[in-house]
Amino acid sequence: MLCLMGAAQGDRPWLDVHRTPDERAALAVKAMTLDEKIALLHGPMAMPWITPDGRQIQVPAAAILSAGFVPGLARLGIPALYETDASLGVANPNGIRPGDVATALPSSLVLASTFDPTLAYRAGAMVGAEAHAKGFNVLLAGGVNLARDPRNGRNFEYLGEDPLLAGMLDGEAIRGTQDQHVISTVKHFALNANETNRQYLDARIDRRALRESDLLAFEMAIERGKPGAVMCAYNEVNADYACGNHWLLIDVLKGDWRYPGWVMSDWGAVHGALDAVNGLDQESGEQLDKAVFFDAPLKAAVLEGRIPAARVDDMVRRILRSMFAVGIDAAGIGAAGPGAAGPGEHPAVKVDIDYAAHRALALDIARKGIVLLKNDADLLPLARSYKKIAVIGGYANSGVLSGGGSAQVIPTDGPFARIPTGGLKPNWMDQVFDPSPPLDAVQRASPNSIVAYDAGALPARAAALAANADIAIVFVIRHEMEGSDVPNLDLPEGQDALIDAVAAANPHTVVVLETGNPVSMPWLGRVPVVVAAWYPGQAGGQAISDILFGDVNPSGRLPISFPRDSADLVRPALPNLGAEPRTPVHVDYSEGADVGYRWYAARGSTPLFAFGFGMSYTRFDYRDVKVSGGKTLTATFEVRNTGAVKGADVPQVYLTAAAGERVLRLIGFQRVELNPGESRIITVTADPRLLGYFDEERRQWRVKPGIYQLRVGRSAADLALGGEAGLHGI
Ligand code: BGC
Repeated sequence: MLCLMGAAQGDRPWLDVHRTPDERAALAVKAMTLDEKIALLHGPMAMPWITPDGRQIQVPAAAILSAGFVPGLARLGIPALYETDASLGVANPNGIRPGDVATALPSSLVLASTFDPTLAYRAGAMVGAEAHAKGFNVLLAGGVNLARDPRNGRNFEYLGEDPLLAGMLDGEAIRGTQDQHVISTVKHFALNANETNRQYLDARIDRRALRESDLLAFEMAIERGKPGAVMCAYNEVNADYACGNHWLLIDVLKGDWRYPGWVMSDWGAVHGALDAVNGLDQESGEQLDKAVFFDAPLKAAVLEGRIPAARVDDMVRRILRSMFAVGIDAAGIGAAGPGAAGPGEHPAVKVDIDYAAHRALALDIARKGIVLLKNDADLLPLARSYKKIAVIGGYANSGVLSGGGSAQVIPTDGPFARIPTGGLKPNWMDQVFDPSPPLDAVQRASPNSIVAYDAGALPARAAALAANADIAIVFVIRHEMEGSDVPNLDLPEGQDALIDAVAAANPHTVVVLETGNPVSMPWLGRVPVVVAAWYPGQAGGQAISDILFGDVNPSGRLPISFPRDSADLVRPALPNLGAEPRTPVHVDYSEGADVGYRWYAARGSTPLFAFGFGMSYTRFDYRDVKVSGGKTLTATFEVRNTGAVKGADVPQVYLTAAAGERVLRLIGFQRVELNPGESRIITVTADPRLLGYFDEERRQWRVKPGIYQLRVGRSAADLALGGEAGLHGI
């Protein structure tokens, strides 16, 4: 061992893990030729692919078929980057690795609905562990764009509309992944809030507002998770492409936030070698760009002095620093000695995966994240004495829907159903149903009932089945995916009419939503029960049934507001609906930092179901709220389970007035499990950034001196009680 360590410290001192990642990176950069440096700065999409202009993408032999690959430098002991999409599990796009399955977690909206940072950590760690065991060392994960529009086709991959909730959970997920010695990105930096013409979209917003909303979510996620890489977005932000946006990448990310990692582009988001001088460090999916800008054109620019050589050194240093900080390299010797855990001993290697344990985590997240929205006359939990249960629609006999695009996971647990929306071969536009049929789970939960299924295609036939049943459970679905927005809030394919027909036939109708966003509910007044399951992942059917029958007490809370209808939205019509593909469009995010519930509050209106709302089979009371001030605000209060069953609550603390100004901002929350009669004292301290504002001129956060009010509530629209205190100001 001493001999190896000597060798590592001798001719390749950057492999010595006793040095800091910064020292190691600096030493390695010094030893590299310009060609070696350039080789680290770009990489292909590791998939056979025909580009829109007809070029065939060749996959390097050393790559694992997946989203991305950057060859390593054997001479220097620098590993290759094996990159996979991983928003909800290790992706297998278009089934490119035949037979390679992975645990399909619930969508990130389910995770956000748990309001549980520890679950986010476990989710990130689980995906990191599976990726590592499949040979990957970079996860294209950590999506934290705020849900500004409930028609954004990608919201299911993100964590809702609030910067604190999203930033905290995202940071924990990234931390979990990187603890497995797999680098995670945080993405898509920034303001990729609509998918329509995303590569031609100018996202316009006031800079201060962006700092206080989407950028704050990124800032918090980066502080907690320390992701090795930031993936810049496709869109422009205020007329400059995100991947060549000096203000975003240099002034904010690397300047104000002192981010030490690297900025990788989204796939096909680079517009020229000069993006390097505006802060981009690496070109990903290089064949998708008009040229491989970070290869020969970048080299030429350096040799001709148009791009300083020192900038290239900085780009390489940042990539190496993250590799060393996360410990993905094989060649180093761990501080704790051979065989023990330590940086430098964790190259990704293929090993068997304990899918059963990982399925249990998928189940846990779904159970805690499914949200009960309505439960008139306590129809839920369902009795097991019903003679006949009608299960209708949503392919509930086959599985639960998942979202489409680069995040698509091919689930474990055997064959799954697929509607070939994208064509006959597996395609990322297909509707994939995770193999956890709610129909089977309901039958298992109530073995003495006759459980009958109708596909729901013909409302009259479904209604006839429902009329003869004691209870009808209608599953409704809407497939959403990356690359497009949904045009409106409607459920597709006549499912509103299906619900109406079933509810007219049987007053005991339960509606279960499997969607990637809020939807409108014209039938809400005619059904007693509504459950939002989002896309609940590969144990989703079981989790839904567990909630319906009360094996699990629902505890999910909405991370995104449900509008009454599109007139409630900042932009009632979907921006750029019908725009010619590949033509420039723009969106004015005129709501600024008033995203989601803050927009409703600013207008003095209430949504259909508010951010933070979710029902339980028990009740929780809050009392004895004390608020103290000074440098920041702290709220202390007691929460008590006053009902008859055990359950989990998520008390939320909101700022409602700031130095004379009426505001509404989530400043803290705590998920807490309580037995009947049990109580807990909760203390929540505000991050001062949530109390103040960003002073764009001074480029710093400020808090005005004055009186501040906090309220403890069950949702953004149900603020039970509170108090106030003074702040000195910053
Ligand atoms: C997506 C990214 C993804 C990348 C690689 C892009 O289309 O926007 O989220 O990581 O593809 O698959």
